[in-house]
Amino acid sequence: MTSRPSIAFAKFAAPKKGSVFVLPADDGGLGETAKACDPAKTLERAFPIAEFTAKLGSVVEILAPEGTSLDRLVAVGAGKVSGLDEYAWMKLGGTIAASLRKATDVAVVLEIVGASPSGKDAANLAAGILLRSYVFDKYKTKKDKDDTKGDAKRPAKVTILTADPAAAKKAFADMEAVVDGVLLARDLVNEPANVLGPVEFAAQAKALEALGVKVEILAEKEMKKLGMGSLLGVAQGSPRGARMAVMQWNGGKAKDSPVAFVGKGVTFDTGGNSIKPASGMEDMKGDMGGAAAVTGLMHALAARKAKANVVGIIGLVENAVDGHAQRPGDIVTSMSGQTIEVLNTDAEGRLVLADALWYCNDRFQPKFMVNLATLTGAIMVALGQHYAGLFSNNDELAERLTAAGQATQERLWRMPLGAEYDKLIDSKNADMKNIGGRYGGAIIAAQFLQRFVKDTPWAHLDIAGTAMGSPSNEINQSWGSGFGVRLLDRLVRDNYEG
Ligand code: BES
Ligand code: MN
Ligand code: ZN
Repeated sequence: MTSRPSIAFAKFAAPKKGSVFVLPADDGGLGETAKACDPAKTLERAFPIAEFTAKLGSVVEILAPEGTSLDRLVAVGAGKVSGLDEYAWMKLGGTIAASLRKATDVAVVLEIVGASPSGKDAANLAAGILLRSYVFDKYKTKKDKDDTKGDAKRPAKVTILTADPAAAKKAFADMEAVVDGVLLARDLVNEPANVLGPVEFAAQAKALEALGVKVEILAEKEMKKLGMGSLLGVAQGSPRGARMAVMQWNGGKAKDSPVAFVGKGVTFDTGGNSIKPASGMEDMKGDMGGAAAVTGLMHALAARKAKANVVGIIGLVENAVDGHAQRPGDIVTSMSGQTIEVLNTDAEGRLVLADALWYCNDRFQPKFMVNLATLTGAIMVALGQHYAGLFSNNDELAERLTAAGQATQERLWRMPLGAEYDKLIDSKNADMKNIGGRYGGAIIAAQFLQRFVKDTPWAHLDIAGTAMGSPSNEINQSWGSGFGVRLLDRLVRDNYEG
């Protein structure tokens, strides 16, 4: 993984060297610790000149004058501190990380006049620092050239000075697990498809065994035996094989049925014989964003020893095109026994998920299944890139997901399902076809998936717009966002633990 800053928490004490970040509230000045820093007076003098009023997320910076031991003093506005929620603290961390630059030794003075940020607030701040600091630069052989552009590109040691460092450390232990899950998901999405194919992705899933996750990898032979003709049909145009990773984290009570997460893992989507246009095709290295989120989530849950039984299943294929590739009009038989007329080989994600969902339901009888998939361009037409599409046969699950989305700001917008849409995928020649008509493409894809979940509570998250290439923000500047990890960790944490 790309290197990241190391985080420590300590009691208030005026830092003697390195860069110092202080957080004043919008109605107060500097706290005692900041005031004890040598150049504090100079910083305060800069406030009016820079029109700094400590508005949330605003920044003013001075380079320490000669004769003082610090390098820099940076004030970061915290606004009205009492109103800051988890995500706001994370964003503040992001703002700090954006101005770390080359600093190797950084102190963050979380001392705010008239407010007392909790350990959890400090931990969220730290999480934001880590998330914002992520850069995918492992293939850049000349890293030094552009590392002064603003965002942190070098690991730094960040010490957060706070009232109760022990509480912060405790809260951070769980959050660090989640952050690492997000970073893993980002790495997987950013990795090019020549390096990360189905076999290599499966090995990454297998590596979670080090955290106590039980991982089985199904290869073609086993999937064929199980009758996964739908998934295997997608893979048959690629020499790189297909895999399914079945991950189990059993942190709950032995008799509790698990909750399940299923991911689309198309390591590259050329479209197959229904080939995609060349322009922008490179983005299809990220067509495994659903599988990346599930893998990152399993990492997070295991690393923080979540008290829940959780299954993660990812269907891994490359949708390539050669003489063996499936053709439009081919009819395949899915594990469910239902037959599918493949009218467009580029509507492949649903074909992969059909077997993955059926297998998951059949084997584990989970409490619910949530699948994640970069499934349709149509969801981007509908929602843009700020919300993922949510489709569900179960209101309670949909509401819990929506609430988790609000809390983490990995937001979801519910879309409809219904019999009128469902009948659009009836086929003359088979039980169903894999595309519908011109309109409602994201809904049609969801209807297709619903035919493979029976009555099990289920939700489908179409993350085509949010998993990759989404607008960067305070806590993410990377193409692969890791969308879904924080969201689903939150869903599990708030509803299915203890
Ligand atoms: N992986 C794509 C969807 C996608 C498009 C994800 C752009 C991210 C960015 C999916 O496999 C696909 O090709 N969907 C088709 C479906 C169509 C053929 C019915 C689409 O959306 O055009
Ligand atoms: Mn496709
Ligand atoms: Zn695809």
